[in-house]
Amino acid sequence: MQTIAVARPQPAPAEDDDKILKIHIYLADGSHFQREAIAGLRLLDLLRMYGFPVKAECGGACVCGTCHIRIPEHWQNVLPPPTDEELARLDSIPTADERSRLACQIETTDEMDGLEFEIQPDSLVQTYWAAG
Ligand code: FES
Repeated sequence: MQTIAVARPQPAPAEDDDKILKIHIYLADGSHFQREAIAGLRLLDLLRMYGFPVKAECGGACVCGTCHIRIPEHWQNVLPPPTDEELARLDSIPTADERSRLACQIETTDEMDGLEFEIQPDSLVQTYWAAG
């Protein structure tokens, strides 16, 4: 049997003056995970660092739409506005709504301490186990 090791990016150590942000990540089944981050990190990279199986098929180039997240309305005022490119990509996602964003297009800021978002099921790699 061959074992394949997959390297995952590791969080950079925080500098003394970095503010540690608490980020709340939800899945569609209600699961909740609190993770730490610093400013300047794309939400997609945060998810990858902590091992969330986000498809992100284009690697963060705003092409695939498979890093779809939903951010509650009360957090919208701290988010950067979506670019035309992000809006066009969101328009191609049938399940997207006004709370939808792409995790590859949002970088954390100090104002995002406590940010909550939900990874959409269509953006998660599904793993199936076959009993047998
Ligand atoms: S990873 Fe492809 S659009 Fe975000």
